Amino acid sequence: MSLDHLFANRTSRMSASEIRELLKLLDQPDIISFAGGIPDPAYFPRAAFADAMTAALSEQSAGVALQYSTSEGYTPLRDWIVAHMATLGVPCSRDNILITAGSQQALDYLGKLLIDKGDTALVGWPTYLGALGAFNAYEPRYDRLDPSDNRAPEQIALAAAEAGGRVKFAYLSPDFANPTGITLTQQERRTVLARADALDCAVIEDAAYQSLRYDGEALPAILAMEIEQTGDIEACRTIYLGSFSKTLAPGLRVGWVVAAKPVISQLVLTKQAADLQTATINQMAVADVAEAVFDTHVKTLRAVYGKRMHAMLDALSAHMPTGVTWIEPEGGMFVWVTLPNGMDAKAVLQDALAANVAFVPGGAFYADGSNANTLRLNFSMSSEAKIIEGIARLGAVICTAMGEVSQRA
Ligand SMILES: Cc1ncc(COP(=O)(O)O)c(C=O)c1O
Repeated sequence: MSLDHLFANRTSRMSASEIRELLKLLDQPDIISFAGGIPDPAYFPRAAFADAMTAALSEQSAGVALQYSTSEGYTPLRDWIVAHMATLGVPCSRDNILITAGSQQALDYLGKLLIDKGDTALVGWPTYLGALGAFNAYEPRYDRLDPSDNRAPEQIALAAAEAGGRVKFAYLSPDFANPTGITLTQQERRTVLARADALDCAVIEDAAYQSLRYDGEALPAILAMEIEQTGDIEACRTIYLGSFSKTLAPGLRVGWVVAAKPVISQLVLTKQAADLQTATINQMAVADVAEAVFDTHVKTLRAVYGKRMHAMLDALSAHMPTGVTWIEPEGGMFVWVTLPNGMDAKAVLQDALAANVAFVPGGAFYADGSNANTLRLNFSMSSEAKIIEGIARLGAVICTAMGEVSQRA
């Protein structure tokens, strides 16, 4: 029976993620896929998790591991995060931290907490598709977050008021963003903070990839910069989202929020209403594994993924025709490619799949679906040899498509 006629109006903005739909096609063994955005399972710290799960299920611990727990999260994990945040220049206490089921859940909660229908969310153009998916349910209007935007904050506020709401937050991923791989400079981070101040809105700093830097020097988190300005996390408008998905394993669904206590308290109420708590045993395992191997494990990932990133950048230089450009990231998992104007990456994907290579067309990452000539390539999931072979195949497909486009023009 179809119950479509009963679905709430807000469901009209919920559509299947283009990426997830695409991933269903990628089970064939010969395909070289640059489409996913996921860590290489060969590098999950499996043995450390096996030990941690065994310990959690021991006679002494099972009563805690299999029991309900607090909504705020497992205390030793929150304490590990306090110490981790200190290394990032973010002094905070346990009460500034909420454990979530991945940072995706935090995005949903923040949408629920901050967006009234018609309010404006400032987002990157393009931005993380999952953030748009999470926010869409709360029916925001989107405006462009661009540090080089020279509109006055008053103009942005006026446009938001004319749309029937106000600017509630700026959402961004300052390090190796998904999908562009771009890292904001320190000046750009300052500009975002100043603009949020002028608009009196929150800043949602999504740090999903922050630990995965392969080149260059680490830059301070926006929250760290704001604490330096204000002297106290309690005076900060930045809400920092961390995740163990890209560093340890996404399947356990453990992430965290760091923010001023009143924000955390409200998020705790949101979590109580939604799912009570993040799975206790998963939090215990992550706490143990983080304590035992986080630093050494992240070092390994940086070495492996860094080589893959460079293999992809070299292969792009070798195989892409003139007119195709890309952004060189310093970390993360993605290279963002722009095809000549007038080309449609979705059409190129059809040909690429026929040549057994896959990627994600970039239009999906724009709130307005524009920029059809862009595409996202993932380098974390393939060996260097596969990356070289896959980019050679893709280069040939794009060369052919460009020939066809120029013939038609
Ligand atoms: C920028 C960004 N934020 C958040 C997430 C969600 O991660 P998780 O919910 O696994 O922590 C992802 C996952 O791909 C991402 O790319």
